[in-house]
Amino acid sequence: MPDAQDAKPFVAGSANCLVVDDEPSVRRSLVRMLQAQGFNCLEAGSGREALEVLQRVGETPLIISDMRMPGLDGIGLLEAVRRSYPDSSVIMLSGMSETTTAVDCLHMGAADFLLKPISMSELQARVSRALEKRALVLQNRFYHENLERQVHEQAVRIQELFLQGVQMLARALEAKDAYTRGHSIRVSQYAVATASELGFTAEPLDGIRLGGELHDIGKIGTKESVLHKPGTLTDDEFRQIHEHPVLGERMLSPLVQESPDVLRIVRSHHERLDGQGFPDGLRGEKIPIEARIVAVADTFDAITTRRPYRESRPAEEAVAELRRVAGTQLDPQAVEAFVSAYPDAHDLPLSA
Ligand SMILES: [Fe+2]
Repeated sequence: MPDAQDAKPFVAGSANCLVVDDEPSVRRSLVRMLQAQGFNCLEAGSGREALEVLQRVGETPLIISDMRMPGLDGIGLLEAVRRSYPDSSVIMLSGMSETTTAVDCLHMGAADFLLKPISMSELQARVSRALEKRALVLQNRFYHENLERQVHEQAVRIQELFLQGVQMLARALEAKDAYTRGHSIRVSQYAVATASELGFTAEPLDGIRLGGELHDIGKIGTKESVLHKPGTLTDDEFRQIHEHPVLGERMLSPLVQESPDVLRIVRSHHERLDGQGFPDGLRGEKIPIEARIVAVADTFDAITTRRPYRESRPAEEAVAELRRVAGTQLDPQAVEAFVSAYPDAHDLPLSA
């Protein structure tokens, strides 16, 4: 019975074909034919030995294996190779014509199935075809991966540019409104501190930071005369103000894939727990948590800064107001998280 010692020595790194057969004479005949075609062959006398060889030298482009061998047979080797060396092209050889086995092998990923005895010209043709197919698969994958990477890089860059533009718009919105100067940045900072208190980290926290910064971006579309009106608003003016979350969401729609949480904040930051908010009249937990957090930060900042229609109020009064409306307008958990985080949030530099 042939064993590991029976296989020829090899030069690691230079082999491009592994011939596996327990019959030394068959194996050598195959190796001679392949060498004549320019292959540099390794040999193994069983499936187990073939795996040991592959472990030592790494993947070979071509493996030609007998079906019936002691220990790990051809099917077992094919399974192991597909699992660990999926880019190797495996041609199975059998001494018997078994259609079902041949079909099974092809289903399991063998490149071809040949019957012994095999002529030089047939081996050459089948090997060339197997390697050509392998080269096409590898080429295809390379182009696909490269294309995917390039498309992803471009998508990221487009989104960066879009965000820069939107952030400049947010600054422009505040620049034309002295009363809300710094509002978006403060809301963003309060919301981040509150969300951190509630256990948010990493990307979800980044979403809240950006959502807080952009929550009122839709006001770009609201007339200044309405935004700055000191007196009571008419029904039509109220309608205009109420449109800003939907308008903002529409403006930011290119973010829908990467940052859906930002869009949820922009659309739902005026919803109320009791369903009396706008634009959708969502109730309780139907309101996205990110929007409930930003609503607390937004309400606090609105109370503590001067508005066209009223003076600012101290933080203590604002906190009392938040607690008063917790449960009807605002999420009580978010309010308490804000109150716990407020000393930290308050110390943050206001970079607006
Ligand atoms: Fe708003």
